[in-house]
Amino acid sequence: MGRIDTLLAAMTLEEKIGQLTMVASFRAVTGPGAPRDAAEGVRSGRIGALLNLWGADETHAVQRLAVDESRLGIPLLLGLDVVHGHRTIFPVPLAEACLFDPALWEKTARAAAEEAAMDGVALTFAPMLDVARDPRWGRIVEGPGEDPWVASQFAAAKTRGFQGHDLSAADSLAATAKHLGAYGAVTAGREYASADVSERTLHEIYLPPFAAAVAAGTAAIMPAFNDIAGAPTTANAALLQGWLRGHLGFRGVLISDYNAVAELIDHGVAGDTAEAAALALKAGVDIDMMGDAYAKGLPEALRRGLVGMAEIDASVRRVLELKERLGLFDDPYRRGASGARATAGGAADRRGLARDVARRAIVLLTCARDALPLSPDIRRLALIGPLAAARQEMLGPWASAGRGEEAASILQGLTAALPDCRIDHAAGVDIAGDDTRGVSAALDLCRDAEAVVLCLGEAASMSGEAASRADLGLPGAQRALAEAVLDLGKPVVALLCSGRPLALPWLFERADAVLAAWFLGGEAGNAVADVLTGKFNPTGKLPVTWPRHVGQAPIFYAQRPSGRPTKVGDRYTSSYLDLSAAPQFPFGHGLSFSRFALHDLRRDPSRVKAGQAVTISVSVANEGGVDGEATLFLFVRDLVASVARPVMELKGVRKIVLTAGAREQATWRLPVETLAFIGRGFDPVLEPGVFEVHVGLSADPIECLTDVVELLR
Ligand code: NOJ
Repeated sequence: MGRIDTLLAAMTLEEKIGQLTMVASFRAVTGPGAPRDAAEGVRSGRIGALLNLWGADETHAVQRLAVDESRLGIPLLLGLDVVHGHRTIFPVPLAEACLFDPALWEKTARAAAEEAAMDGVALTFAPMLDVARDPRWGRIVEGPGEDPWVASQFAAAKTRGFQGHDLSAADSLAATAKHLGAYGAVTAGREYASADVSERTLHEIYLPPFAAAVAAGTAAIMPAFNDIAGAPTTANAALLQGWLRGHLGFRGVLISDYNAVAELIDHGVAGDTAEAAALALKAGVDIDMMGDAYAKGLPEALRRGLVGMAEIDASVRRVLELKERLGLFDDPYRRGASGARATAGGAADRRGLARDVARRAIVLLTCARDALPLSPDIRRLALIGPLAAARQEMLGPWASAGRGEEAASILQGLTAALPDCRIDHAAGVDIAGDDTRGVSAALDLCRDAEAVVLCLGEAASMSGEAASRADLGLPGAQRALAEAVLDLGKPVVALLCSGRPLALPWLFERADAVLAAWFLGGEAGNAVADVLTGKFNPTGKLPVTWPRHVGQAPIFYAQRPSGRPTKVGDRYTSSYLDLSAAPQFPFGHGLSFSRFALHDLRRDPSRVKAGQAVTISVSVANEGGVDGEATLFLFVRDLVASVARPVMELKGVRKIVLTAGAREQATWRLPVETLAFIGRGFDPVLEPGVFEVHVGLSADPIECLTDVVELLR
């Protein structure tokens, strides 16, 4: 008998359920319910997994209890939310998505895995892959934005990065793709609310990133808190057993979200803990995180015949297999061993990577001529706003082991970058609250300055889990501060630090330049300085459509065609009476100090058959005066299909570095099969007909070059 069979044969019911139980330790609080002293549970075999603990000494100490003092010596699984870095904090995922660069996405995940593994962690609750189209939802910050194609690339890159080549290596983490089940579609962007999406939308928009994570070998998956049309995902057997395990062949571990098994009672689908436990287990959820529902409910569920021992055994086997794949049986102390520390690369390299990724994540939203870069001759700058000197906030809502005191504030970054410039700083107002007493002192500083940099936005805690907002404006008295500064008539560059797009049409109208600076991580201030001084020419592009008003949410580019498409001035078309239907900025938007132009869109051949591929090419020229990087988006539209297809669907992205005055060709090879879609019977179908091909620097259809390709029968 192999190791796992031997263990299974030796385990009591309590020990089996212990392997399916994960409880929160004390180093971080990521949900309701008190962290536990898990020692007794670990020794007795009633706890097989912990979350929210890190540190080589801390993790090894508790591992020792499992290995040396529990009856069967089964090592613990130690999980943590290593979402965008561990000790070195990279930009929040929404910001990282602005890179449109799978190689860098993978690199930051690799660096995070190395650091977390050095701290004894074996599994991360990441990547977060929820397609999000509603900026009211706070968790839009944690994922790759609105597009399923981008999210799928992100899924694969992150999974590869976290897991490395060998899951058992001392520097690898098991990835947990989360949160399966249209969490991004919660009603009105309100956290933990119900999602009511069609089967089609579920399969076309929300599930593809998870299929990509499975294809990339993700070790674990977490179902979302929400229900879809009355079926809480934690108990959704059709989704978890049917689609995920059955259709996709996922063999890994399903870990519930925090207390989600017990919450099946609150969802109204389970009458008591035994029923909740049985529903989740039968749906395929292996580990109950912080719910105690398996511990309390499974023995009773077994007695009532709601579950069988074979189902419990199947889950225990999957958990033990994961522990085996992670190398925990062979050496439970491999992660966090001093050797692991020595071999994992230098912290300086990781900070360098963090700075590069952070500056690439900055999106130049607007820029009047000459507003940026700042003149090298500038001698007096006013740095105003509540985020100018903030450090902890730069780390964003999931800071893992990151330390605010080690983060570079914008003030520090600019001070270091502009040694000959006097920088006067005042917050003016707090991030939230209505105290405006600091405004007049801030205005005094601006009066003497050649230019003003306004650092506005949200606190890190205003996005992320349990952080939905009904208003997409600036919190507190920040607008009053900003308008008072703008009224002075000085050149004003505004930086928006936030976990979501903010609807601030007045600011985009009035400021000379506005940049989305998200939460850029530990190197935030240096990255901002690199862009403002022109040391780095901005390349970030929006992975979400940016609304001009909260009333436009949910908002995304890949809309289905209307029978009455928007036509300004024509009442009986799809529009608002009191607001333009157009976004503030389209998906993919992001300016550069260079000026790029596209010419000569070609497709070859123009008529194709199944099994063939079409080559799309376009010429891109840097018509500006500085070297830069262009990002090109390839969209298609299936003009006539048995199910109406979106007006634009992303099929490819190219990034091209161009010196000033240079011109190059970008090409894509598009296999015809990528034109397939989910047909009426929910199987992929490839229908002959005419497809529009659009190539542009964003999803603004007016700016795209367009041609057609015909798919022959
Ligand atoms: C709840 C969150 O929804 C999930 O993303 C996270 O991984 C767990 N808490 C653990 O912290």
